[in-house]
Amino acid sequence: MAKILITGAAGFIGSHTTDLLLSEGHTVVGVDNFRSGHRRNLAAALTSAAFRLVEADVSAESVLAQLVATETPDAIIHLAALVSVQDSMENPELNYRLNVLATHRVAEAARESGVKRLVFASSAAVYGDATELPIREASTTRPISPYGGAKLASEALLLAHGAAFGSVVRCQRYFNVFGPRQDPASPYSGVISIFAQRFRDGQGVTIFGDGQQTRDFISVHDVARANALAATGEGVASGIANICTGRSTSLLEVAAVFGRHYPAATAPTLAPPRPGDIIHSRGDATRAGQELGFTARWPVDEGLAELIKLG
Ligand code: UD1
Repeated sequence: MAKILITGAAGFIGSHTTDLLLSEGHTVVGVDNFRSGHRRNLAAALTSAAFRLVEADVSAESVLAQLVATETPDAIIHLAALVSVQDSMENPELNYRLNVLATHRVAEAARESGVKRLVFASSAAVYGDATELPIREASTTRPISPYGGAKLASEALLLAHGAAFGSVVRCQRYFNVFGPRQDPASPYSGVISIFAQRFRDGQGVTIFGDGQQTRDFISVHDVARANALAATGEGVASGIANICTGRSTSLLEVAAVFGRHYPAATAPTLAPPRPGDIIHSRGDATRAGQELGFTARWPVDEGLAELIKLG
């Protein structure tokens, strides 16, 4: 069994990753500054003797280094981030601090304490407006937001760290993640989190465009498993992999699943497309299968049914 330190443990993906690792018998040290994470996400984890939660800002100098020196984890899963693409457009300085400088701090803390494995929350945002589908790891990376740029820069920092100091570094390019605990608070939150809340509250939803746009929606349970495999799997080498399903689902299909569960709901309102919206995004899931032994298991409609059941 391993000891894993997770930054951003109280967040959407962090809390599910924590829960899964604990259920597998590992020890977890969670770090979060509660900027976008919530203590309530860790309600189950906090009842476990194998879990410790530390409130700290990963980007602050020497805070993480001290913690890593004390805990000497086998691996670090670095998920703490400025998670909103929109926020990164409005505040590139903050994006730099939370999405680049914090990564550097993680790499340095790992080097100083000899941590042998690092797993990083990257994003399909590194590809920008990809035209060729499915999107492969070898596809052109041309980020179009400070957020995407920071994720790509962080990948480079960490992979170079791995090459220089001999640690295993896994960069996980998540596609459109959805599931319980995703925050629907902003109009730019993940569309499924917004739809789930609005259908539940009996409010109509808005579809920007004709609803034919597609995304590679992946359940957070699958993403947590991909993180656990990257952090604890045997024989895992450094590399980059898409964390996706390889399948497309249109927004109309998503709305239709909700509509079946909420037959009294009003039909979605169609509004003009959002500026900069991409029409189709779908990843090639092959490499994560080969390098991590990871294949997504949750079909989108089952993931939606789970969300709807939770209410
Ligand atoms: C993602 C980012 C977004 C960024 C974009 C860059 C997330 C959650 N969003 O968007 O910030 O600008 O990559 O390519 O990571 N939609 C609706 N109704 C709604 C909300 C959304 O129709 O109430 C539509 C959007 O216009 C889009 C689709 O749903 O066509 C998916 O939206 P979203 O969940 O934000 O994901 P991305 O478009 O991939």
